[in-house]
Amino acid sequence: MACFFRRRIAAKLACTLQQSEDAFIPALSAVPVFKKQLTADFKLSIGTLRMSGIIPSCGDIQLQTESLATRLKRDSVVEDISAGRGVINFKVNRKLLVQKVLESFGKEEDDQFGLNSELLHTLKRGTTLVEYSSPNIAKKFHAGHLRSTIIGNFIANLKQCLGNNVIRMNYLGDWGMQFGLLGAGFGKFGCQEKLKQNPLQHLFEVYVQVNKDAEQNEEMMQAARDFFRQLEQHDSEALSLWQQFREITVDEYQRVYKRLGVHFDIYSGESFHQHQAQEVVQKLQSQGLLKTSEKGTGVVDLSTTKDMSSVSTVLRSDGTTLYITRDLAAAIDRKEKYHFDEMIYVTDKSQANHFHQLFHILLAMGHSWADRCEHVPFGLVRGMKTRRGEVVFLEDVLDEARARMLHNMNQSKTTKEMDNPEDTAEKVGISALIVQDFKGPRESDYTFDWDRMLQAQGDTGVFLQYTHARLHSLIQRHEGVGGVLFDPSLLLEQTSITVLQHLLRYDEVIYQSAKDLQPKHLVNFLLKLCHLIASAHRELPVKGSSRDVAQARLQLFSGTRSVLANGMKILGITPVDQM
Ligand code: ARG
Repeated sequence: MACFFRRRIAAKLACTLQQSEDAFIPALSAVPVFKKQLTADFKLSIGTLRMSGIIPSCGDIQLQTESLATRLKRDSVVEDISAGRGVINFKVNRKLLVQKVLESFGKEEDDQFGLNSELLHTLKRGTTLVEYSSPNIAKKFHAGHLRSTIIGNFIANLKQCLGNNVIRMNYLGDWGMQFGLLGAGFGKFGCQEKLKQNPLQHLFEVYVQVNKDAEQNEEMMQAARDFFRQLEQHDSEALSLWQQFREITVDEYQRVYKRLGVHFDIYSGESFHQHQAQEVVQKLQSQGLLKTSEKGTGVVDLSTTKDMSSVSTVLRSDGTTLYITRDLAAAIDRKEKYHFDEMIYVTDKSQANHFHQLFHILLAMGHSWADRCEHVPFGLVRGMKTRRGEVVFLEDVLDEARARMLHNMNQSKTTKEMDNPEDTAEKVGISALIVQDFKGPRESDYTFDWDRMLQAQGDTGVFLQYTHARLHSLIQRHEGVGGVLFDPSLLLEQTSITVLQHLLRYDEVIYQSAKDLQPKHLVNFLLKLCHLIASAHRELPVKGSSRDVAQARLQLFSGTRSVLANGMKILGITPVDQM
């Protein structure tokens, strides 16, 4: 595996430069595979060595590179060492490359490929709380909530496979004036029967109607205020209606999340923290952090200058708390309950200032752990529409993805007979959604495009699934031929070497993703892998080859299938075996 070679090269450097091996690990990387085939497998960046003080940072870098390259001895593992521009290239023995990369497959720990790398050991472990999805009850589930759901799920999966204890939390918008409106309006516009049949839709309808009504009808507005006050005072009738709305909403969401392959350990929400929010206000006051503004609101001023963006309102003039006050209370409560080592919030980038202020206030209150809280922002999605029009419910997006995919499968001549085409269409459709979303930089906005994301060829989730299904059926067709015993010297074709060189990068890709929490590294790695597998399918046939050759090739294909499946699962995609 990659770590075997990295260690060998690091040991060689350590010996020549009289330093510890570990010092060289960050400067070594696998050479990416490009169209123009390179023969080197690893490269050492001299710039990185200079920066870390391992070699003098003055003097001509090229001379340093060349002189170090000539001092390093070749051996039976590292066969060739040459100087490039500011880098030293290493080529490892081909047979060993094949053997080391492929030997770990076909055993129990297939899903651990790359995860024991020394590179990943430098990452911190511990308890990670990831808060994601967090829709608002009775309001629409917009594209931002979908992005939060899939990006948060990816981060949670990634942290989990790196050995962290992960807590997955959904923080519902389950408190505030919308419940005043909903509670007051339900009597007039609501219907228990419809609520049971289609809860999310019915709540949303009532919410829209009551909002319209309240615009013209002051009585309705007053009723809404009254209802919300009753709620805040824990009036049992008001609370039980609220409770009912919340419960059916959570049940519905759980059902839809399941289709998406997403789950939560905790369904928390703003409602849980209304009391604590008042305590936070008192605490801010006693710490001298709370000021009263001219308008009578309670504010925390964190500015050293007259910069208004750092003045944060935590209390309305009528004494009620706000979104940020509840977030302050929620963060403190989570720290006490779950003792997290880090907490990650996933929302669109428009909330960046909110979280900036949140973390600042926590720090000012003396909660130094706020340094280990992070907001992971993402860009906006334009034009997410279904046949029903603008998206209001998550389920509509999933239904449409499934329907469109099913249609494409029925049109395609290569589609196999299968037991449950709907289920396959659902999984493939969802992977298309995910890959479209994950391909670019997380912070970038993008335009939603059903046709483009569902293309079978090209860099889509459909292509990932197609490649996985093809590998799966190839391996199944030759069951009994493959095995852990294979002859590495039968896999020395350039096509096979290129696939293996690409696999050498897997741990680096995981490392990068863990560092910046961007799914694009892994997505692009897997897409590239699928292109290389397509060439391997063409050039390294199993059928018609001698048993030894077939055996070796099957080991290559089953290894790549494992890595593809592992990577897809981290992204939140369920690999299909047939399509
Ligand atoms: N419910 C909020 C919204 O839809 C997102 C909540 C984000 N999390 C938080 N802790 N503030 O905008």
